Amino acid sequence: MGKAFSSCRMRKSIRSNRALLSFENVQNEAAPLKYYLPNFISDTDIMVILHFLDRYLFQSNFNAPIEELLLDGKFKVLDVCCGAGTWLLDMASVYKSSNFFGIDLCSVFPTEIKPHNVEFVQGDILEGLPFEDNTFDFVHQGNMVEIFTLGQWRFITMELIRVCKPGGYIEFTEPELGNNPGPILSKFYDALIKLSESRNVKIRMYENLINILDSIPMVQNVESEIKSTILGSKRGGNAGHEYLEVHNGYFLNVPMPETMCKFMGLTEEQYFEMFYEAKKEVLDGIAPKCEVYRIWCQKRFEED
Ligand SMILES: C[S@@+](CC[C@H](N)C(=O)[O-])C[C@H]1O[C@@H](n2cnc3c(N)ncnc32)[C@H](O)[C@@H]1O
Repeated sequence: MGKAFSSCRMRKSIRSNRALLSFENVQNEAAPLKYYLPNFISDTDIMVILHFLDRYLFQSNFNAPIEELLLDGKFKVLDVCCGAGTWLLDMASVYKSSNFFGIDLCSVFPTEIKPHNVEFVQGDILEGLPFEDNTFDFVHQGNMVEIFTLGQWRFITMELIRVCKPGGYIEFTEPELGNNPGPILSKFYDALIKLSESRNVKIRMYENLINILDSIPMVQNVESEIKSTILGSKRGGNAGHEYLEVHNGYFLNVPMPETMCKFMGLTEEQYFEMFYEAKKEVLDGIAPKCEVYRIWCQKRFEED
């Protein structure tokens, strides 16, 4: 059982995308990171699939009411923990007269070959964003659950709000751990919950994130939308198929097998064998419902 993926149309476009981007080799860089989830070049493919899956599910790259302003131009957008910059590059290619900025701990983003309206910087959000107050019209962050503690989420949210202009918007797009997994996949989900608890990380962040935003007087109009798909193509169609690719990569890419084995009391060989069984279970239609949510809000005008 390897981590090879089946070929599909989306995958081909990812490969050609990758050929265009000049990624630095981050394999050596990954070791000392505080970040503990997969972040190797191979994981970039998974994040690209997840980006297009999110865009498909929501039929857009954002929910905040900013489309017209983006089209008018000179709109400043920041993506925090931007990874390879997939969301930003997609946005920048549509809204060519607006300006896009990305920040990530690790330089997995393109440093040379990129559109004129995109800039990337390396930085740790936990040390605070290297931008002045009230700089951006829209501040976005996606796919960061299972990484930060609740205290860190609160700090990060305050930072996102700080760098957003009054009247601007802040938005999160995040997946939630699937509901009603089959008996074998449940063992992986239970171990993931234990892993998160051992790091004081909340695995289900939807309610927590809403509560954080509701408790911050500087923002108003907190809204959310949830989309879902059933894992695997049998019940989830194409979206379920793509989600399964992401799901497989998450559990099989370095360092997850080694980390998870400790919580499951398995050898790596047993882990891969059991995951193969879990995947069969999903392919047979015994599969969880996976939700993705967007939460967005507006920073209050100073006179409000
Ligand atoms: C799961 S990926 C998500 C990437 C991107 N948001 C996306 O949706 O494709 C997590 C990213 O967060 C970055 N990251 C983790 N901890 C960070 C931190 N403290 N500051 C900045 N970036 C961080 C990692 O380097 C990685 O690129």
